[in-house]
Amino acid sequence: MLPDANRAVARLARLLFRVCPVIRRVLEIPDPGLREPCAPVAEITPDLVRLAGDMFDTMHANAGVGLAAPQVGVHARLFVLELPPDDDDPLSGRRFVLINPEIALTGARTEMVEGCLSLPGFRAMINRAEGVTVEFTQLDGARVALDARGLFAQAVQHEADHLDGVLFIDHLKSMLDLEKIPPEMLDWTEETEAEAA
Ligand code: NI
Repeated sequence: MLPDANRAVARLARLLFRVCPVIRRVLEIPDPGLREPCAPVAEITPDLVRLAGDMFDTMHANAGVGLAAPQVGVHARLFVLELPPDDDDPLSGRRFVLINPEIALTGARTEMVEGCLSLPGFRAMINRAEGVTVEFTQLDGARVALDARGLFAQAVQHEADHLDGVLFIDHLKSMLDLEKIPPEMLDWTEETEAEAA
């Protein structure tokens, strides 16, 4: 846990950055910054709290559901997730900051449509595990574990890859499997944008 003073600073920073959104530039493929592995977070500082807030703002501005720190040029092991509300998923509609995540895959493997804010306008079918158990540190310093399935589990796998410099296109057998999102397919676009991470 953070000392009281740090907690107060963190709360103030969260409040300020909720009022004034800060949109950071998202690195796009082939930026070499996306390929650098990230270092573990040693300490939860006010800068880190501010970074997490900026990452939510940046993710929302780009209609994403997840964003990893290296995508905004910070090579630290954290990512944020916020899935659109879904009555069937208790993890949806909530903000998560996952610091130093450790992931175990669960369930069968299956093909899922996926996009990435670092490759706007494209999508592909990616083979992922249906579920994950993820252990991580929250912004308040608590170490917690979650079992997740569906979109949350997919997003965890996608974002955790970013921390190792791995991109979703690395899971493709061929770049020809990458598909441009047809602008006329509005429903598809909305769905795929919602899944961009
Ligand atoms: Ni991504």
